[in-house]
Amino acid sequence: MNTKEIDRLAREWLLEAGGIIKQEVAECKYQISEKTGPSDLVTSVDKKIEKFFAKKIAEFFPTHQLVAEEDDAHKFSTFKGVTWILDPIDGTLNFVQQQANYAISLGIFEENHGQLAYVFDVERGSVYSCIVGEGVFVDNVKVERLRVDPSLEESLLIMNFGIIASNYLNLADAGRRARAVRLYGVASLEMMAVIVGQADGYISRSLMPWDIAAGYIMAKELNLEVTRIDGSEINVLETGSLMIASKEVHQTLSTDYIKKTEIN
Ligand code: IPD
Ligand code: CA
Ligand code: CA
Ligand code: CA
Repeated sequence: MNTKEIDRLAREWLLEAGGIIKQEVAECKYQISEKTGPSDLVTSVDKKIEKFFAKKIAEFFPTHQLVAEEDDAHKFSTFKGVTWILDPIDGTLNFVQQQANYAISLGIFEENHGQLAYVFDVERGSVYSCIVGEGVFVDNVKVERLRVDPSLEESLLIMNFGIIASNYLNLADAGRRARAVRLYGVASLEMMAVIVGQADGYISRSLMPWDIAAGYIMAKELNLEVTRIDGSEINVLETGSLMIASKEVHQTLSTDYIKKTEIN
């Protein structure tokens, strides 16, 4: 696979897509609809961005496959050749309510090996990127995680509301032991917070391939722990839970909370 050429085009398309989103926001004419209920939304912008990438990929890389959220034609597949996994807008609810705190998330795999990853925080204008083997960058500055391996007591955690509200596997108790807990409502950017060291762990459930593909590739590149909540390996094409954290935090969450709760 021609990594440099894919990287060049992926960046170009991400910026163009970001421009389309900003224009849609400025014109304020996009349609919002409910999928399964009032908290599960999709907009005409999500669909437009997915179509934009589908067209580009088909034109420039006709043998590559696309897995993405909104169009049934891009639904689950098996890894075969090169696979682009795209969330055209991650954090649609934030996009609708806040016009901020959303991102385009893109992970590119060759067979089942992650090769390139991008998360574009459109409103802040920040591009998180990774070519595997070359490190992770934010706007072309290499990520060097300063707080390498804090204890849970010194850590900042991100968890989704369902986990906190139900104290799932006693993880809300773990949150109390940590310095603080945050909740952003956008899985890709929550993973990026851990990637750059603004947070030390992120735990969530029911995440789809396009929520985690880019963050998963970057986490592996930085040697962060990235597993399902039960500690098992992630197959990015399957829906499931996620626990991404620095080593000690991951281990403490696992041994002091998750595993204990499962046994009891
Ligand atoms: C959602 C967001 C949210 C996460 C949900 C995702 P969407 O993605 O990432 O943070 O908790 O599970 O579905 O639907 O806005 O692309
Ligand atoms: Ca959605
Ligand atoms: Ca998403
Ligand atoms: Ca989405």
